[in-house]
Amino acid sequence: MRIFDWADERLRFKPLLRAFLDRPIPANVGWLNTFGSATLFLLIVQIVTGIALTLVYVPAADHAYQSVQYIDTLPFGALVRGIHHWSASVLVVLIGLHALRVFYHAAYKYPRELSWVVGAILFVVVLGFAFTGYLLPWDLKAYWATVVGTNVAGAAPFIGNLAVQLLRGGPAMTTATLTRFYGLHVWVLPATLLLLVGLHLFMVIRQGIAAPPRAVALTDAVPGESRRERYEREYAAEKRSGHPFYQALLKDALVAAVLFLVVLALVAAIGVPLEAQADPSAVGYVPRPEWYFLDLFQLLWYVSGPAEPLVVFAIATIGFLLFILLPFYDRGWQRHPRRRPIASLAGIGVVLAVVVLTYQGATAPTPTSGAVNLAASTTLTVGQRAGLHVYQVEGCGACHLLSGSGGNAGPELTHVASRLSTTEIQHQILSPRDKMPAFTDISPSDMTNLLNFLSTLH
Ligand code: HEC
Repeated sequence: MRIFDWADERLRFKPLLRAFLDRPIPANVGWLNTFGSATLFLLIVQIVTGIALTLVYVPAADHAYQSVQYIDTLPFGALVRGIHHWSASVLVVLIGLHALRVFYHAAYKYPRELSWVVGAILFVVVLGFAFTGYLLPWDLKAYWATVVGTNVAGAAPFIGNLAVQLLRGGPAMTTATLTRFYGLHVWVLPATLLLLVGLHLFMVIRQGIAAPPRAVALTDAVPGESRRERYEREYAAEKRSGHPFYQALLKDALVAAVLFLVVLALVAAIGVPLEAQADPSAVGYVPRPEWYFLDLFQLLWYVSGPAEPLVVFAIATIGFLLFILLPFYDRGWQRHPRRRPIASLAGIGVVLAVVVLTYQGATAPTPTSGAVNLAASTTLTVGQRAGLHVYQVEGCGACHLLSGSGGNAGPELTHVASRLSTTEIQHQILSPRDKMPAFTDISPSDMTNLLNFLSTLH
């Protein structure tokens, strides 16, 4: 290859490439180790298809939906959008599997603690992509799921109100929200992602791939050795019994190809969802979160009550800290799953909890679907209509049935005014009896309008 040699004379990359491809990796590095490279592959798919989508997409409330519809009419447009949509889902699965593999192999232990920390942040970045990307098509699902999602952020103590304002760019969901989410989705998060992925790969290459744990050590213990010496000795033995890196590349390529086919199959079988255009007056449209947020959604439901903001915030913070700081409190030398029973049991517990919560979230009673457009009703005054808007923005319809549509987690509100006085309704909103979250951050004027509206429901 003369061109290759020509380039190498100028760039001198051959030694680097050789060092990269020929570096020895431990024996038994098998299929489980392909999850990391598969995640990387899907990230690249997302970047390529995402860039293609930005060429056509318009991040403004009055054009976003139309531009997405237009994308679907372009040659390969629906395909590109479909790949971007489904590969995001597969990516979330893969990054989860990758984290599980690292946990199962205890590969986060010395000296790879920082790879875990960066990986954990990447996990959150990927969820951030999912959350911000969800809004962009600006269809009913996108709009209402984000209303509920940002309401959750609003439940954070002290900073809740500020968080909602920052995310939405105001109290309601408008173009300001869309441009913000778009900016996060195509600039802030990708820049963070590239930086962290670069760091993550750098560390993986510098430290080498962790050897799958053995129940019995490969070499005999040497008395008086330091942690570092012991590690270096054991890892050197693993590499001697291993093989060069490039031999593993075939597995990685195969898995990437299979995943791409899976994504294509999903596009072909299910298609690319796009509901009706976002409609802030679609009272009681019940958004379902994307499947990978169902567990969190369900968890939220369990802890809802007067203490919800604090509990949600505490659970989220503690959960994240336990996750990201794992290598710093689980510091034992043992790496085989059977030799660290507490960690293994905890891991199984977390996986079971995620599966059960997701299942419960997915099978929770589906409320009547379809959107009623009460706002079109001419019997409402301007103030009452504004109250209806508050009802929508606060996401009351996620739990309450109103004129035939909405959730059924709470009582139907279609005739609430014949049952409760305005004072009683206000009391329920500010300090709910039981499962309903308190809405203490509704401004006084919004509250007046909301109560005005609810008092019409005889
Ligand atoms: C997370 C689900 C949820 C959301 C969101 C929600 N509620 Fe509720 N709501 C409930 C539940 C459950 C009850 C039953 C009593 C309780 O648990 O406090 C209830 C009770 C009520 C009642 C009393 C109804 C009766 O017949 O006793 C009113 C009025 C009410 N909610 C209004 C609202 C309004 C207004 C909003 C939006 C600002 C809202 N709710 C948002 C779940 C919810």
